[in-house]
Amino acid sequence: MDGDGLDGLFETHLRTTMHRADLALAETGFDALAIHSGVPPMQFLDDQEYPFKVNPQFKAWVPLTDTPGCVLLYTPGAKPKLLFPQSDDYWHRPAPLPRGGWAERFEVIPWVPADPVARYWRQLGRTAVIAPPGALDGPSTGELNPAGLMTRLHFDRAVKTDYELECMRRANRLAVRGHVAAAAAFRDGLSEYGAAQRYLAACAQRDEEMPYNNIVAYNEHASTLHYQHLDRAPPPQLRALLIDAGAAFRGYAADITRTHSAGPGAYADLIAALDAVQRALCGEIVAGRDYRDVHLSAHRRIGDLLREAGITKLTGSAALELGVTSVFFPHGIGHLLGLQVHDVGGLLADPQGHENPRPVGHPYLRLTRRLEPGVVVTVEPGVYFIDSLLRAAATDARAAYIDWERIAALRPFGGIRIEDNVVTTSSTPENLTRDAFAQCGG
Ligand code: GLY
Ligand code: MN
Ligand code: MN
Repeated sequence: MDGDGLDGLFETHLRTTMHRADLALAETGFDALAIHSGVPPMQFLDDQEYPFKVNPQFKAWVPLTDTPGCVLLYTPGAKPKLLFPQSDDYWHRPAPLPRGGWAERFEVIPWVPADPVARYWRQLGRTAVIAPPGALDGPSTGELNPAGLMTRLHFDRAVKTDYELECMRRANRLAVRGHVAAAAAFRDGLSEYGAAQRYLAACAQRDEEMPYNNIVAYNEHASTLHYQHLDRAPPPQLRALLIDAGAAFRGYAADITRTHSAGPGAYADLIAALDAVQRALCGEIVAGRDYRDVHLSAHRRIGDLLREAGITKLTGSAALELGVTSVFFPHGIGHLLGLQVHDVGGLLADPQGHENPRPVGHPYLRLTRRLEPGVVVTVEPGVYFIDSLLRAAATDARAAYIDWERIAALRPFGGIRIEDNVVTTSSTPENLTRDAFAQCGG
């Protein structure tokens, strides 16, 4: 059975995953690998669980995101085993044993929780056990989360297999449906909450299935980078919508931002100008490029944009040097994307765990690696009018370079961010997000 048309790609993906594990185990002196899917933590003083978030190292092997208590067992040269929990729990619907499709690549072993899980890997020799805190209820004989092995796996995960790229294409297509629906809701005058609900309905996903908390921000709210509320009533005047919202497909994330203006004017012009900057930056996602240089290029380009818009009085390079661009663009240009919205390993220089430092003065950049084919990143420049940063700039040497009347006129719009998911190739980058918008006619 291959309902998704992905079985062939999955087989190759699993082979790559096994090969990477073979090398990592050999280099760190382990005989076998055990990866626990995790368990949802309990709420304090309550009998309710928090939503389950699967161990990302588990879903790198097994495309299951909703089954706590599974264990993947792998010994080089052998078919991977999947211990799959079976219980008589009549409070919850037990997950059916996976069959067919991807599951044929595993020896699926029904497992009852009374059976101590460590007994399975005790037989395998020196075992590296990757498990989130609290997942294992008894002492394990394996070594828990060994740093050297984990670092190697994290490093390798940046380069996606063809299967992973296809999952991310599909996640982008899902998210784009939501973006189109939310933009229409904004134009129809719905509240932030209303637009967020329309988004989820269009993706046919629940809030807890989203790879991160969707940000649906109207007007001034767009100046809070991770705005987390949803007003139930629309504001008296709808000026701007910034929506940063994703979707997941087989555990792989999309992470997309679009900004919309309710009408024409300086803010709409600024969105168009940032869109041109963003497209140019997507063109910089080429193999061999140091991502730190993409970040610094973003600052220069945004600096030039700010001058052309009459917001500052400096060239892009001077604005970067003097810390003026950071007033308006205070986050990194992007990050690794994959099984996690901020995929691990962004600072690693090599599989041994050495790190590439961030550029001085840019503490929030999450990715400092050199790009290579298969690496998926976000490209997400922004221009915001953030009260606390503007207040700080108004009281130091930067104040003289800023046109405060322009700022006063633009502040009620909050800010702008435009974010795409881009695959590094050996030639032209593949823009998963713009391709998805083009396919749905947006
Ligand atoms: N949505 C989180 C981010 O863009 O990094
Ligand atoms: Mn992002
Ligand atoms: Mn985002």
